[in-house]
This record gives sequence, C-alpha cells and structure tokens, in this order.
Amino acid sequence: MIIAIDGPSGAGKSTLGKMLAKELGLFYLDTGAMYRAAGLAVLKAGANLDDKEKIVEITKNSVIKFEASPLEQSQRIFLNGSDVTDEIRSSEVSHAASVISTIPEVRRILVERQREIGKSAEKGCVLDGRDIGSVVFPDADFKFFLTAKPETRAQRRYEENLKRGDKTTYEQTLHEIKERDLRDSSRLDSPLKVAEGSITLDTSEMNLEEVFQEMLRIIRSKLNQTDFASAKEDNSKASVNS
Ligand code: DC
Repeated sequence: MIIAIDGPSGAGKSTLGKMLAKELGLFYLDTGAMYRAAGLAVLKAGANLDDKEKIVEITKNSVIKFEASPLEQSQRIFLNGSDVTDEIRSSEVSHAASVISTIPEVRRILVERQREIGKSAEKGCVLDGRDIGSVVFPDADFKFFLTAKPETRAQRRYEENLKRGDKTTYEQTLHEIKERDLRDSSRLDSPLKVAEGSITLDTSEMNLEEVFQEMLRIIRSKLNQTDFASAKEDNSKASVNS
C-alpha cells in the first residue's frame, strides 16, 4: 500500500506521515529530507548554488540512508555515513534544498531512489513531499494534500525551531515559508500542486489528532469498501464454481 502526502512546508505532513505509518505498520519516507541531505552535501562541498552541473554530480554521488531509531521511535538520516538528522533542519539547508529541488536532473535522481524505497517496503510506505501523488507514485492507493494558512504554518515551524534552539524570529520564519511556497509552486519541474485524485485537508483550524483521525477514517472506510467488494467477488466466484 502506498500513501502519498503532499503539501507546503509546515502543514504537518511529516508528523502525520509518521503517525499513519506507525498505526498501519508501514515504512515512512520523508522525501524532503532527501532534498535536504543533498542540499547539505552541496553546502559541505562548498559548491555554488548556481552551479547546476556540480550539484547534479554531488547528488548522484551522495549516499542517503534512513535508519530506524527505536529509542526515539523515529528515524535518523545519514549522508555518506554521517548522521545529519539535526543538521538538515537549519535555515541554510532549507534554502539550499529548495534551490536544488528546482533542478530536473536532481529530481530525477531522487525520485528514482524514492520509488525504489517505496516499492521495496514490505507492507507498504507512507511518503511525504511535494510531488508524491503527481510524479513519484501517481497510482498511490491514497493521496492527501495537507495545507494550512502561511501564518499558521510559520507559527508551527517557529515553535519547532525554538525547541531545537534555533533563534530565528516568527517574522523571519514567515518570510522564509512564503519564499519557499513561491519557489516550490512556481518551478517548472514537478511544481507543488494538488495531484489528481487527492483529498485536500486544510489543517489551519484542526489539531494534529483531529487531522490524524480524519486521515485514518478516510483510509479505513476505503479499505473496508475494498474488503467488502473483494469478499463479494469471492462469494460470487464460489457460487459459480459450486
Ligand atoms: O518538506 P521539506 O520542507 O523538508 O522539503 C525541503 C525542500 O525540498 C522544499 O523546499 C521542497 C523540496 N521538496 C521537493 O521539491 N519535493 C519533494 N518531494 C520534497 C521536498
């Protein structure tokens, strides 16, 4: 089973993606973390963010791995063998990730890896990003588009940053969110958009638990219908055969 969750930054995609994956026993893949890790690799190499050729080469050669961390009940992200889980969340890396994600060749490399991870997950995978339902897995079993007002998303990001000890102000966070929204939705290759067949949830006025329950309700009601339909089909086959 593949569950795609797309939407702008700060809409709650990764928190909800993790919650759904845990509840349903699926693997969780944060595709934004892959763009962030590649962005960090570019910064570490001292490459210029205008140097597309170099960026593509660095992305091709970067080994990005996810490992479950049972202690924290979360995942750690490794870039070329080093744990970069915290480092990829800085404003500098957010900016680099957003810039490099506009390069089609970078997207091609990372999308290929995302499909491999998604397909190899034993019971299925929840992926969150910007183009999961439109490009990576257009045939996903479930497609969600999570969104919220920029001010709400900025407030959530600001609080997360504070917890991590990042001293960026709310105003700066809002400015960065708006800038990234514009870049993510106006780029030519795979812009952020509502994929065909997606269910849009505006989380501005909902808390995490409410959004989670709503997503679960949607998933379970479709799964029950499918079970019912296949049970009916099995029954009719059984009666034809008997
Ligand atoms: O979800 P995030 O904020 O961690 O994503 C970081 C950047 O990567 C963001 O600017 C958009 C980009 N991205 C993308 O273009 N496609 C994805 N599937 C995921 C993220």
